Order: sequence, then structure tokens, then C-alpha cells
Amino acid sequence: MARGTFIILEGGDGSGKTTHIERLKKEFPAFVYTQDPGGTPLGTRVRDLLLSDDSKHIDAKTELLLFLASRAELVAQIIRPALKAGKTVVCNRFSLSSIAYQVYGRRRPGLLGLYRDVSAHVLEDCEPDACLLLDVSPEIAAERIRKRADRATRFDREKLEFHRRVRKGYKKHVGEFGTPFVINTERPQEQVWKDVRDAVQSVL
Ligand code: TYD
Repeated sequence: MARGTFIILEGGDGSGKTTHIERLKKEFPAFVYTQDPGGTPLGTRVRDLLLSDDSKHIDAKTELLLFLASRAELVAQIIRPALKAGKTVVCNRFSLSSIAYQVYGRRRPGLLGLYRDVSAHVLEDCEPDACLLLDVSPEIAAERIRKRADRATRFDREKLEFHRRVRKGYKKHVGEFGTPFVINTERPQEQVWKDVRDAVQSVL
């Protein structure tokens, strides 16, 4: 059986990923939907550790390795079996987030080599076929996060400068994850949704 299609949705905090994933679930109910970090029992525990305020002084290398560990479990338990079964997988965030947040956000360019070495083992045959980057300026994203009811994470609370670096990393490396789609989300939601749906349809 042919391998399924692997699509990742990326974008800064407040870029609208969750909203559009909910719409994709309605439009394409047969797809497998998951999230990184998380998506497995162990991954969810690692996610809780990573997002907790108790981890705010964590070393950037440790942070990267924990994201990679959660991702290794997600690939092994969920993504690889689904792709092997010919299913389309949509993942809320994936490897590009590690480059954007840990390498660029944390200003640790030296971690790119570690990221690449470990990722080659983690992903193997599960490289994404397409990456939808929901692009938003950190100022507008901050405004959206302020209006959200749920509590902001320690990543959400980083300074604007951090989020500017994350955006730069996203734009610079988006082409490394299959077909890239950079979608401007500073437009009415229906227009953004049309681009998201068209992008997904074009890679199926
Ligand atoms: P989450 O609440 O899932 O964010 P969102 O709803 O915006 O996707 O929190 C995940 C956080 O982890 C998010 O702020 C980005 C960060 N992150 C990294 O720093 N590196 C990574 O490799 C991944 C996957 C996420």
C-alpha cells in the first residue's frame, strides 16, 4: 500500500492553528489528527513538563531533547503506523517548531546540528509532505492571546522579541518540510480557511 500523506500545521502562538484544525476535522473526518508535543500518553506527560512554569529555567538543549523525545514517541506510536496504513495525517506543530523556538527563539544556533542529527533518527521515513505555516505578526498574535480564555503557557508569555525570532526561523526553514504554504492570517477567517483547505486539497 502507498504511504499516506503527512501534513503539518505550523505557526506562532495565536496564529489560529487550533481554529483551522477544528475546521479541517469537519471537512476531512477520515484523516488522523494529532499534536506535537503530545499525541500519546507519554508525550502528554512530557508536554505537561515542558509547558509547566516549573520548567521556566530549563536549559535550551534539555528543552530541545524533551521535544524530540515526545516526537519520537508520537512518530513511533501514531504517525508511522497511520502513514503505513495509507492514511492522511495532520499534525498540529512538528519539527519546524523546534527550529523556530529552540534554535531561533532561544538564540541557540549551535543546536541546529543536534536537532538535525536526532531528527534523522526520530523521523526516518516520516518526513512531512507539506507544511502549512500560519503566519502572523507577534503584535497581532499577542492581542489574540490576551483575548483567549485559556491560560497562557510560558511560551506564550515570552517577550515580543522572542516571537519575532521564532517567526524569522519559521520563514527561513519552512521549505525543509515538503511543499511549503505560507498563509497570511491577518485576514478574515474565511479567507484564511479557504487557503488552508485549498493547500490541503492540493497535496492529497
Ligand atoms: P501549545 O499549547 O500546543 O501551543 P499551540 O496551541 O500554539 O500549538 O504549546 C506548545 C508550545 O510548545 C508552543 O508554545 C510552542 C512550543 N514548542 C516548542 O518550543 N518546540 C517544539 O518543538 C514544539 C513542537 C512546540
